[in-house]
Order: sequence, then C-alpha cells, then structure tokens
Amino acid sequence: MRIAVCPGSFDPITNGHLDIINRASQLFDKVIVLVSYNPNKQSARFSVKERIEMINSVITGFDNVVADCNEGLLADYLERTKACAIVKGLRAVTDFEYEFQMALANRQLCPSAETVFLTTSPKNMYLSSSMVREIASLGGDISDFVPPQICSAIIKRLSPEKGTIKI
Ligand code: PNS
Repeated sequence: MRIAVCPGSFDPITNGHLDIINRASQLFDKVIVLVSYNPNKQSARFSVKERIEMINSVITGFDNVVADCNEGLLADYLERTKACAIVKGLRAVTDFEYEFQMALANRQLCPSAETVFLTTSPKNMYLSSSMVREIASLGGDISDFVPPQICSAIIKRLSPEKGTIKI
C-alpha cells in the first residue's frame, strides 16, 4: 500500500490544504493528514485536538484519508507508518526555499520517502492559515477560504468581540 503523509500546522485547515489533500488522495492508496509541530509557530490559535476535529469534519467524503498528529520528527513518523511520500503544496516562489530545505533534510533523515510537491490551484495562490486567522479576527468573511463545515467554529473563536478596542 502506498501511503502519503500531508504534514502541516493546519491552524486551521483551509480550502488550499483540502485541494492538495484531494489531489493526493487520487495519487496514493492512503493519505494521512498530519498535524505536526512547527517550532517556528509557537502560538497556535487552535489546540491540536481542535485542529484534528476540524480536519476530520472536512475529510468525511474521502475513504482513503485520515487525520493524525505527531509531536516529534516527521521522518520518525514516516518510518513508523511506512509512508513512501510527503505531499506538500507549493503556492509561490516564496514557499520554495523553505520547502526545498525541509525536503532535503527529510530525505537525509528518511531516504525511503520522497517529497512530492503539488502546485497549488490558481484560486488558492494567496491563501494561507495566517491570512484566514487575520481576516476572521478582524471580522471579515472567510467563507471563500475555508470549508463550510468549519467556518462558524473559526469565526466563533477568532472574530473580534463587539466594542473591543484593537489599536
Ligand atoms: O504548515 P507548516 O507549519 O508550514 O508545516 C511545517 C511542518 C509542520 C510540516 C514542519 O515544521 C515539520 O515537518 N515539523 C515536524 C518536525 C520536523 O520533522 N522538523 C524537521 C523538518 S525538516
């Protein structure tokens, strides 16, 4: 069985992530959406449990996609699950250097897994979890950016309270 892992912070999962997961599910027998620890992102707005719940609620239509989390090295998780690929979305040249560096490090740590980059769909070029968080926290409409199943949970958590002074 060819298992692929889609790792990320998913704080929260966006339509851009879901597009990559959907396409990966057509290329591999099984896809694990892995909520992973990113040391550069210390202050997540959603707990790991909440992020997994959100992912679970948007992958119900796929019979070969599951959600999981991992606190340690991605390479160790790949070895444990016998995954043959890491699938990542590439949005723009700005993503490339960071992703390239991670792909090389993961290859060194786990030579049995390949990193596969899928180019983002044009409509998601600019989309990121941080953009969704910022728009929601300023009271904007995020319905074009995240799956409908999780839209209200994100707004409930992040939208500004009426009367709050922000600046
Ligand atoms: O969505 P992100 O935050 O850009 O994803 C980055 C992530 C979580 C995939 C990356 O930080 C990661 O793989 N973390 C797990 C720890 C690890 O293996 N670090 C070494 C990567 S070479």
